[in-house]
Amino acid sequence: MNLKSIDENDCIIVARNILKKYDETVAVDGIDLDVRRGEIFGFLGPNGAGKTTTIRILSTLTDFNEGSVLVDGHDILKEPNEAKTKMGIIQQHISLDKDLTVWENMYHRALMQQMPKAQIETRMKELVDYFSMGEYMDRKIDSLSGGWKKRAAIVSAMIHSPKVIFLDEPTVGLDIKARRLLWDLIRLLNKDGTTIFLTTHYIEEAQILCDRVGIIDNGKIVALGTPQELASEIGEYAVVVTDVNGKSEYKYFEDRKSASEYGSGIETGEVLVRKTNLEDCFVELTGRTVES
Ligand SMILES: Nc1ncnc2c1ncn2[C@@H]1O[C@H](COP(=O)(O)OP(=O)(O)OP(=O)(O)O)[C@@H](O)[C@H]1O
Ligand SMILES: [Mg+2]
Repeated sequence: MNLKSIDENDCIIVARNILKKYDETVAVDGIDLDVRRGEIFGFLGPNGAGKTTTIRILSTLTDFNEGSVLVDGHDILKEPNEAKTKMGIIQQHISLDKDLTVWENMYHRALMQQMPKAQIETRMKELVDYFSMGEYMDRKIDSLSGGWKKRAAIVSAMIHSPKVIFLDEPTVGLDIKARRLLWDLIRLLNKDGTTIFLTTHYIEEAQILCDRVGIIDNGKIVALGTPQELASEIGEYAVVVTDVNGKSEYKYFEDRKSASEYGSGIETGEVLVRKTNLEDCFVELTGRTVES
């Protein structure tokens, strides 16, 4: 991990040495994190890795034992209210009132953010137009599909024009069509400069959506970079040898020539030489597989 190359002034989130314990369990084990202004940053890791704990710490929802977090220059312990005005939070389990309409939920959210009434309707109209939510605004949350509930939660979290949006596992449980629509929405959010910090255990999501990815395992960041950088961290090329039982062995090489030479020396099994990908990096570094 190369933190030195990042200027802290370019970062909306600067976290240092974050430690969080639940009794004997170390959920987050002394991590450093810099999230750049305007990027989509993905926190990828298997179940129990510490993703939710970290995102909750950064977004002031969970306390921590050691370390410091700045959000847009505000220390979240010393200036929590200032920090909170800069962020929008969408937890895995949506916290909208299911008996109210999307419009009513957004309005309540705006009041909770202490927005002046005169500004609320203008801002809501702006969001509804930008995110094409018009026909859904009068629907009760309970009547929406999972994907649209999530969209409503995200758009509501944007009401006070936060600079950074935290999303914990935004697309878990959604079908692929709803997942893609949500990716579009997240890109649209990001297009106007909003920084996105999301967690995911879908490698594809990290690969397709994120500018940079941190891989977390057992509470530690084991790799950090663009999906391409992470893939090449273990070697640019992979040789996959699959035996008659369908079991595959992987080896990684710096260049295609060495990979091809190794591949051509294999006498049994099916040999595939290809570029490495984020999944290779994930499995190699964590020793675990994730669903995708
Ligand atoms: N409230 C809690 N009390 C006790 N232990 C907890 C609590 N929350 C999390 N943990 C533990 O901390 C570790 C990290 O959990 P966390 O929920 O942050 O992981 P995660 O990466 O979000 O996992 P998942 O993919 O399952 O959502 C796990 O060992 C978990 O059991
Ligand atoms: Mg989680």
